Amino acid sequence: MPFNGSTKPSRNPQAPAVGFPTTRMRRNRRTDWSRRLVSENRLGVDDLIWPVFVHAGDEPRIPVPSMPGVVRHSVDALVESVGEAAALGIPMVAVFPLVDPALKDPQGSNAIDPGNVVCQAVRAIKAAGIDIGVMCDAALDPFTSHGHDGLMRGEEILNDETVEVLVQQSLIQAEAGCDVISPSDMMDGRIGAIRTGLDAAGHGHVQIMAYAAKYSSGFYGPFRDAVGSASTLGKGSKDTYQMSPANTDEAIREVALDLAEGADMVMVKPGMPYLDIVRRVKDTFAVPTFAYQVSGEYAMLRAADERGWLDGNRVIMESLLGFKRAGADGVLTYFAVEVAQRLKAG
Ligand code: PBG
Repeated sequence: MPFNGSTKPSRNPQAPAVGFPTTRMRRNRRTDWSRRLVSENRLGVDDLIWPVFVHAGDEPRIPVPSMPGVVRHSVDALVESVGEAAALGIPMVAVFPLVDPALKDPQGSNAIDPGNVVCQAVRAIKAAGIDIGVMCDAALDPFTSHGHDGLMRGEEILNDETVEVLVQQSLIQAEAGCDVISPSDMMDGRIGAIRTGLDAAGHGHVQIMAYAAKYSSGFYGPFRDAVGSASTLGKGSKDTYQMSPANTDEAIREVALDLAEGADMVMVKPGMPYLDIVRRVKDTFAVPTFAYQVSGEYAMLRAADERGWLDGNRVIMESLLGFKRAGADGVLTYFAVEVAQRLKAG
């Protein structure tokens, strides 16, 4: 029988009372201790991954104009900053390079040079004995003269040829001491190939965090400024390898494939506009799931805070708690250090 709109109370005396005025949702919210008691989600320092930029020059810290508060570190300055992050309890950093334009070519050759700035940075962090996980991207875009994540033939981004290079890139990074390889290129089959390559080279303990559901997004703009790929990519589009923002079932297929190929952890990217994907991935696979609060999200919150349009402290914490609520086990965020400081201060 269809619901007829009757609100007559149930005749079963055992039935739980429902509805106002017996139930008052505000009762649990009245006091601070009660609000804390019924709190369902919590953000902690262990949830934070800090993405950092490194360049090969001597200038300790070069600001990124479209990301106020974010800098490109020299290797020495990076070791210092990563030491501070470790002291705050941040479990992992993700290292991204600003590559000298003179070293860029269509093949992204510098990506597989063990002397490149990423490997220099990883070796320096490890040599300093800092107790922190170090993650490195497997992708060619910071190294290619065309700014794409893969090798090109004409206008086409070559898949299998690119995967071979990504394996080489992963190997030199693992050799330098990288703990987690994070393929961010969205080529097909790269997780399996990298896993096989790492295992064969004796790097069986190196973990893989797959950028499994990575969308072709406008929110990466400031990152591309930071690593200098905005100018190389120009009007180029990544739509033939990164996912359409319209799709969600496709994300589930991507994650399933990456897990089948050996990914230890998966990531959804960008973050805030894709919280539905985070939730679906976590519910479907129940594996370590991460979200990347990307450069554009950082820039928006920072810009609004700088103008006094939003209360930065408040919305930064709120945005990160949103990832936890959506089911993320952790978040890559450029706010990691200041949030860790705030969490420590209580
Ligand atoms: C490289 C890569 C990108 C980001 C992380 N790795 C940019 C891109 O795919 O164009 C974006 C990170 C951010 O915006 O903060 N493949």
